[in-house]
Amino acid sequence: MTRRTLIAANWKMHGLRGDLGFIGELDARLGAARPDAGILICPPATLLAEAASACAAHGFLAGGQDCAVADSGAFTGDLSAGMLRDAGASHVIVGHSERRAGHGETSVLVKAKAEAALRAGLTPVICIGETLAERDAGRAEAVTGEQLAASWPARGVAKDIVVAYEPVWAIGTGRTASLADIAAMHAFIRAAAPGGGGAALRILYGGSVKPDNAAGILALDDVDGALVGGASLQAASFAAVISAAQSRRHGLRFADN
Ligand code: PGA
Repeated sequence: MTRRTLIAANWKMHGLRGDLGFIGELDARLGAARPDAGILICPPATLLAEAASACAAHGFLAGGQDCAVADSGAFTGDLSAGMLRDAGASHVIVGHSERRAGHGETSVLVKAKAEAALRAGLTPVICIGETLAERDAGRAEAVTGEQLAASWPARGVAKDIVVAYEPVWAIGTGRTASLADIAAMHAFIRAAAPGGGGAALRILYGGSVKPDNAAGILALDDVDGALVGGASLQAASFAAVISAAQSRRHGLRFADN
């Protein structure tokens, strides 16, 4: 089975309304070189509704960067998955390492967020990945496998879920894992997908994906796309990463995302 490529931009805490010209510029830069891939932009929540309208007009998808566990209630400052969906999101990132490490999010919480996303009709993009100390201790697969199992939503079906493998030490550092390590980790994650549906699971690589390394990473069999931080902040570099997805082979596609 082949899986439709997904190239996702994680803008993190960057972007003001004046930056939304990015979306039209991205479309123009891709032009005829636009690959057959889902292109997802996850701006800060303040921009989501406006960005989602622009994304729809240009054939892109929009997503949130996090969501609450509850559907509504007295949770000051939180945003429910349903609110993100109402604002035009199709996806939501959950369990990013910056939230796991910086906000103390556990896999138990990430699982509940992924379940909230599915309840609201969003595709969760579940982030997992080891730290450098864990990799150096030979525990990359053990840690990542444990996060995958514990963050997986109850009754979750692989085709409705995206996993992003992001080694923590590669995020925002300019360091990327070797192609051999990426290939091995993605194959491991696919084999470890709960419920045995790994063949349908889209697994993105994230961590310092840039125009100059994207083609090699995206050509790997078990890499179904990329989650891009720094290089997604300029239309030129994000367009170059997306264009690198031309290196992928395609067959069967999922209908909508
Ligand atoms: P980076 O971020 O591309 O800047 O390393 C990736 C991510 O954190 O999703």
